[in-house]
Amino acid sequence: MRIRNIKNATQRINKCEALIKNPQNYCGKHQELFKNNNEIQIEIGCGKGQFIYEKALKNPNINFIGIEKYDSILLRALEKVEEKPLPNLKFILEDAKNLETIFKNEISCLYLNFSDPWPKKRHAKRRLTSPLFLNIYEKIFKQEKIIIQKTDNLTLFESSLKDLNNFGYTFIDVSLDYNEDENIETEYESKFRKEGIKINYLKATKK
Ligand SMILES: C[S@@+](CC[C@H](N)C(=O)[O-])C[C@H]1O[C@@H](n2cnc3c(N)ncnc32)[C@H](O)[C@@H]1O
Repeated sequence: MRIRNIKNATQRINKCEALIKNPQNYCGKHQELFKNNNEIQIEIGCGKGQFIYEKALKNPNINFIGIEKYDSILLRALEKVEEKPLPNLKFILEDAKNLETIFKNEISCLYLNFSDPWPKKRHAKRRLTSPLFLNIYEKIFKQEKIIIQKTDNLTLFESSLKDLNNFGYTFIDVSLDYNEDENIETEYESKFRKEGIKINYLKATKK
């Protein structure tokens, strides 16, 4: 994603209600923030929040947290929810590599939408489905783990299939041309679909 640095982005996001400001303080107990016992699902690299906002709107009985590492991008997602607040949607500014300091056995589903593909072999461990990250997810998931990925990038998709399989995940659904009625498009996805690019999809689980 092209990052246009926004002046005072950090100060501006810190004024937003939906931002979890010291997420480490809630490690293992993010449900307290939502004041209910509903499950928590997260999107890593939520960008400007189009997908997770819509997902939260359509699923009021699930709590959602969007994770994004750049403040200037997250500000756009937070502006959306400031305008039309949703009680079941919050955001965290953080790099996914630090997620185990933030969550502990509390996530039921993880969305990876159009993650940076890191196509060069020497960068493979930066992919969000590399063993490095799958090890981190082990600690943040509850007992049953669900990972849902959408991507236009075949190199990333193939390595996700391999790494998830080697890590003990089984596949509930795999598609090289995902087109479901209930699909919620992300910003990147909308652009790709307009260009006629096919979307790869997987849903994987591990007990
Ligand atoms: C290509 S964009 C996709 C954005 C959105 N998910 C979509 O589909 O439109 C990837 C996003 O992931 C974020 N990102 C990449 N690596 C990340 C990481 N390690 N932790 C958190 N966010 C990350 C980027 O800043 C960017 O906003």
